[in-house]
Amino acid sequence: MKSRRDFLHQSILGSLTAGTLGFWAKATEWFDVPEKGAFPVVIATWDNQKATQAAWDVLSKNGRSLDAVEAGVRIPEADPLDTSVGYGGFPDRDGNVTLDACIMDEFGNAGSVNFLEHIMHPISVARKVMEETPHVMLSGSGALEFALSKGFIKEDLLTEVAREAWEKWKITSEYKPVINIERHDTIGMVAIDAQRRIAGACSTSGLAFKIRGRVGDSPIIGAGMFADNEVGAAAATGLGEMVLRTLGSFLIVEEMRRGKHPQKAAEEVIRRLARKYPKDCADNQVGYVVLDRKGRHGAYSLHPGFNYSLYQGGQNLVVEAGSLFAK
Ligand code: GLY
Repeated sequence: MKSRRDFLHQSILGSLTAGTLGFWAKATEWFDVPEKGAFPVVIATWDNQKATQAAWDVLSKNGRSLDAVEAGVRIPEADPLDTSVGYGGFPDRDGNVTLDACIMDEFGNAGSVNFLEHIMHPISVARKVMEETPHVMLSGSGALEFALSKGFIKEDLLTEVAREAWEKWKITSEYKPVINIERHDTIGMVAIDAQRRIAGACSTSGLAFKIRGRVGDSPIIGAGMFADNEVGAAAATGLGEMVLRTLGSFLIVEEMRRGKHPQKAAEEVIRRLARKYPKDCADNQVGYVVLDRKGRHGAYSLHPGFNYSLYQGGQNLVVEAGSLFAK
């Protein structure tokens, strides 16, 4: 049993701690005042305005950033005309559409699927992995079995357009993927909601005509996407092999943790990539979209031509990102 003395001692300590924490929380808010109208905000790779619109529809109703990024990424996943994400994605060199995706919430929970076939919305399967299993990543046939067990429908994801492109590619490329000429526009999306919850999502059909079994950066937490509610989030697009070697999204978040603005953090990581892999960087594109917990954003790529979609303050924009190399 506690003595009265113990009880008083604990109460005083408790109120001191609560008081100190209260002051600290206020001080943190005071030093970290968001710019007016900065929240919510969502940013996505490439011209994905329909996706940012879907995310905004959630965010503008005071919704959760996790629901927003899932809703956003599902748009290109279901679009048969988007040839590098979900349904309609270009197949591997054997004609199979294989999909990769990952998702993170404001608590640092993560879910991922890779080498998943026949399921139109890998991002929603990744979310189920995060929320309904003790694991972070499921792969291949196991991921498919899991998706089916959760009620996802098995579908043929190879569209006529993608099949024709594959047939054409087979004639000219003799089963050797040429990385830098292939269209490559993974969707990576990060968002912060009105309650300052940060989440991110990333989805792709990967490199067109890849070797069967190839997995890129998009389903790898820290490579294709990383979100940390204390700091911010980043997502990648471009040649996954280069993003994988540098864990670029994680690195950007760490640069922000050390005090960098999202734009400067993205630039630093792209510069580092170019320093370390000058040969690969000459012909291949990598780009990042970034936001921090103040609602500030940034985007940067190796080469010109990378644009991004930004929904903030009620405006849905497509913006050209800066790049390290000139045209
Ligand atoms: N960035 C997507 C991939 O390389 O698969």
